Amino acid sequence: MKVTIVGAGAVGASCAEYIALKNFCSEVVLIDIKDGFAEGKSMDLMQTASLNNFDTRIIGTTNDYSYSKDSRVAVITSGIPRKPGMTREELIGINASIVKKVTENLLKYSPNCIIIVVSNPMDTMTYLLHKEFKINKNKVIGMGGALDSARFKYRLSEALNCPASDVEGLVIGAHSDVGMIPLDRIATYKGVSVRELLSVDSLKNLVNETKVGGATLTGLLGTSAWYAPGAAVSSIVQSIICNQHKLFTCSAYLNGEYSLSNLCIGVPVIIGSNGIEKIINLELDHTEKKLLLNSAEAVLSTNKLLDTINL
Ligand code: LAC
Repeated sequence: MKVTIVGAGAVGASCAEYIALKNFCSEVVLIDIKDGFAEGKSMDLMQTASLNNFDTRIIGTTNDYSYSKDSRVAVITSGIPRKPGMTREELIGINASIVKKVTENLLKYSPNCIIIVVSNPMDTMTYLLHKEFKINKNKVIGMGGALDSARFKYRLSEALNCPASDVEGLVIGAHSDVGMIPLDRIATYKGVSVRELLSVDSLKNLVNETKVGGATLTGLLGTSAWYAPGAAVSSIVQSIICNQHKLFTCSAYLNGEYSLSNLCIGVPVIIGSNGIEKIINLELDHTEKKLLLNSAEAVLSTNKLLDTINL
């Protein structure tokens, strides 16, 4: 099974590395526009194969999409990352045309592939694929919520002083600082509600820290994060390739679910060999419904900006 990753920057390379380390995929093609960059990253990663015991073949190419032919899954990480102080939405002008061009190239060689969108603003870039290419809605997946939920679980595990693997938690809504909705009401420590274990103030703080999780890292690193985004994408890819039916929050095209239509936004989905196998219609309380509606309105207005860009 072949997986193509477009963009050999930190997120794309981390994604390739985690896929290889998990050893579930025969070939990863890494594509970048910068001359020799993907070739270099691939060679460096391949030189870890004997040390890390993986059999996945990683191949790099400078913008030659013929290498991506017949990919089962493609990941788009292309575009510029945000700098400290920037919002994800501010990247739309540059990233929209890049993402469109990359998608054209991918579909030319792999018309049936499932595409995972990482580039920001992620919900709008995911929507862009539906708008411009009429791809089946199960075949386009925005990865944001999987990452945001992992960040939520990290914050919960810190507050609970327990391993993150003992924690369950979902973040729905937009992949944006204000639009994210960490659902503390249904988060658990091995099935025990976190609301029974943590104070209202502590939950409020960690919900806020989760929402600005990406911005905090951008402030510390000077550019956006890569390990957790790469790990989130590789887990989604694995669930597709191995038909695992894992549940993630991902940006999915909604057509009436949650009373929302004609946009992509983070909701819980089951991921298997067909991509989004199912959208889970969570029963939200009044406050959560209102937050999701506000989050969707912000995404819709960012989506409208696509009409003002010469793609
Ligand atoms: C982040 C980027 C990937 O949240 O949006 O780190």
